[in-house]
Formats: sequence, structure tokens, C-alpha cells
Amino acid sequence: MIKEYIDQNKDRFLNELFDLLRIPSISADKDYAEQVNKTANFVKEKLMEAGAEKVEVCATAGYPIVYGEKIIDPKLPTVLVYGHYDVQPAVPLELWDTPPFEPTIRTTEVHPKGAIFARGSCDDKGQMYMHVKAFELMIKSNTLPCNVKFMIEGEEEVGSTNLGPFCINNKEKLKADVVLISDTSMIALDTPSIDTGLRGLSYVEVEVTGPNRDLHSGVYGGAVANPINILAKMIASLHDENNHITIPGFYDEVLELTNQERTELNLAPFNIEDFKKDLNIDDVWGENGFTVLEKTGIRPTLDCNGIWGGYTGEGAKTVLPSKAFAKISMRLVPNQASHKITELFKNHFESIAPAGVKVVVKPHHGGEPVVTPTDSVAYLAAAKAMETTFGKKPIPTRGGGSIPIVALFERELGLKSVLMGFGLDSDALHSPNEHYGLENYYKGIETIPYFFKYFAEMSK
Ligand code: BES
Ligand code: MN
Ligand code: MN
Repeated sequence: MIKEYIDQNKDRFLNELFDLLRIPSISADKDYAEQVNKTANFVKEKLMEAGAEKVEVCATAGYPIVYGEKIIDPKLPTVLVYGHYDVQPAVPLELWDTPPFEPTIRTTEVHPKGAIFARGSCDDKGQMYMHVKAFELMIKSNTLPCNVKFMIEGEEEVGSTNLGPFCINNKEKLKADVVLISDTSMIALDTPSIDTGLRGLSYVEVEVTGPNRDLHSGVYGGAVANPINILAKMIASLHDENNHITIPGFYDEVLELTNQERTELNLAPFNIEDFKKDLNIDDVWGENGFTVLEKTGIRPTLDCNGIWGGYTGEGAKTVLPSKAFAKISMRLVPNQASHKITELFKNHFESIAPAGVKVVVKPHHGGEPVVTPTDSVAYLAAAKAMETTFGKKPIPTRGGGSIPIVALFERELGLKSVLMGFGLDSDALHSPNEHYGLENYYKGIETIPYFFKYFAEMSK
């Protein structure tokens, strides 16, 4: 029944996703504002066509939130589906084999049956659109077993700044029993998994100023602090010889897992040789005493995301620059608090600045870490749904990425989330040549109606 409907509508499901992927909804770049808004309207149209009611494009101080619902009986449970229609910037464009906003299908080693190459194909347009199509399927086949609400935002990739206030101001409208999200990865097509936690985030930009102007590096060099040299040294000092982060107090609130929890986490299939081969690195790196799964799942990190200053054009220019900059992200784990970590960073970074330079630390958006329950009705329903369509019980895993709004759903709406993602870590999210497996797309559309079915049944 479910499979038949998907088979009969396969091409249309794909063409519609292609249309969605063709709109460059880059939320970080103001030049694309019109396109981002256009994408919101596209999602609205498609929700309406699929059979949702009260569909609206809700204006915010930033990009709009698309809302829609289908209430079949107020006494039945309600699933709130969250996703995002914005995407990361596509630069550097020259590293894409085909243009980021002209979706094409190619096969890869991991996706022998083909993958859709386009920015947002996996994160999150492809995964979000599976929910719209699964909803259409349930409406058209008269099998929607409970209520559903959609909340699709356009600012996830820039910190979801306006979604928090939207939730706080619309608590009644958003009343539900659980949030269902497909915006994470699973281990592999033959090894389904469900994320049971996400890391939080502190993000800062730092500026180091030396002399009041760029100087001749011969005339002044050696006697005046070079902000790039200083910044590089300051950043390097943030990890010690065991790759521990040196900011005082950074680990104070980190929730240490019990040995049993760590053992369980490491039961998830993970092949370090494949991992290294995929990234073409000859060794992994990181905090001594932890496995790769622990390093990305339950341990906090600090990474420089970008660094610039001085002369980077062609040829040589002998200059001692006035300023140097860097963007730094810290991934957080329970029970670290993002504002507190940002504060610790700022105090420490300013304190290690040597005489001769001035340092300014500018905080960006942040987000709190979350863990989601594995004994809730919704988790068990998701696990059973995946077991039905993949033929294997999904493995609970910890995701290393962040979806800051998930902690807010819990705090402000009192709602737990289920992170039923269908992407793969190797799908190049945020990178050139992002892709999403055709099989993953259709499997997702097939699995979601089972989630609704089991969730409604098990809620009784
Ligand atoms: N969908 C990702 C998060 C993700 C990806 C979680 C894979 C787990 C596995 C999301 O769109 C994202 O990229 N989040 C940002 C945070 C945001 C504040 C920019 C991130 O993790 O960098
Ligand atoms: Mn995402
Ligand atoms: Mn993302």
C-alpha cells in the first residue's frame, strides 16, 4: 500500500524535490533574501497541495516560518514536524562537480543506486520534503492516524534566532505530543540508527589588533607585534599536548558517562580504517583517552573555522598587518551551557593576549546540547518504523552536529524530539558536492507513515 503509492509517484516526488533544490535559499547571504522567501512560499504551496490546512507563511523579524496542520480529531495525539528550508552557502563553487543549484543524479561508492547532488539535498530540503510527501501519502490513502502540525523554518543554518520567540508566542498553536525531525544522519542504509543526542554550540569571532595601520615588514618587522603571528599562537595554545582544551573551567560541567554507557556507545559499528580512507587522512586526531565515536558524540571541542588577515592576493607583498581575525566554534555536551562557555572563552582569550596587541571577542549565536529519551513512546515508534522498512532495529547513536532549537522545544514547549534522520555523514553536508541518496529519500518517505501508525497505536 505505502510502497505502491511511492512507486506510482516516484518521478513526481523527485521532480518536486528538484524544483525545491533549484531555489538557492542561502540564509547567511543577504543577496539571496528574495530566494529564501520564495522557498517559503514553495513549501507553503506544497503543504497545501498535500492536504494541510491553515497553511501560512508566518513573518518573523528574519525569514518566515511555514506552518500547516491537519487535525483529524483533537482527542488524538499530535506530531509536530520540524525541518528547515534554508541551506548553507555553496562556496567555494569551483569545488562542485556540477552546479549546486542544478540538481543532478550520479552514483557513488556509497550510493550505487544514485544520489541527488545539490546544496540542501540532504540538509535539509531532501529530508524535510520526505515529510511533506509522506503526509500527502497518508492523506491520499486516508491513513493519517493522528494529528500533525508542520513548522518549517528558514533560519536554521544561521542559528534559528527568530524561531525561539515564535515558539514562545505560539504555545497554543504548537501544542503537540512530540517533535519529529529528520535533519540528522544514520550510520548506513544497511545499518539504521537514531540520534539520541546533539551537541550544543558556542561560536565566537576574535579580532587581534597590533599597530594602527599596515606596516612595511622590513622597516618595522621584529619590533612590532604581528597580529597574525600572535593570533596563531593564541589559538594553538587552546589545546594542550593531550589535545585537551586549556580554557580554565571548560570541562567543569561536562557530564561524564559511566563505563557502561561508554561501552554501549562504542558498540555502534564504526570502522576507523574506512573513516580514514573516506577523508584521506593517515590518522585521526583528538582528545587522548577517547574513541572517535566518543570524541564526536559525548566530548566537547574547540575548532578554528576560519582565519584571515594581511595579504592573501597573488605574489608577495611585504606587509606587517594591523589586524588578524578568526572564527572559532566550540561544540558542547551536557551539561555545558553555551553562554557560560562563551564567557569563559572571552575571559581566557583576553587574558592570554600579550602586550602590544588588543583583543576583542565577539560572541555569535549559540545553542544548548540535548539528549533525547530512548524509552518514550515516540522513540519506540520510530525504532519500530525503521525496523519495519529497513529490516533491522536502529542503533541509538549520539550526533556530533547541533540543532540548537531542539533544546528550546523542550524548555519552552515541554516537548521531547525524535531525531529520525536518513542522511549519511558522508553525504557532504555543508561541503561542496552535497548529495542525498535516492534510496534514502524514498526509504524516508516509506518509513514516516509507519512512525505515525505506530505512534498513534502505541499512544493508546
Ligand atoms: N542538520 C544539521 C545538524 C546535524 C547534521 C546534526 C548531521 C547531526 C548530524 C544542521 O543543519 C546544522 O548544520 N546545524 C549547525 C548549527 C547551526 C547553529 C548553524 C551545525 O551543527 O553546525
Ligand atoms: Mn540541517
Ligand atoms: Mn546544516
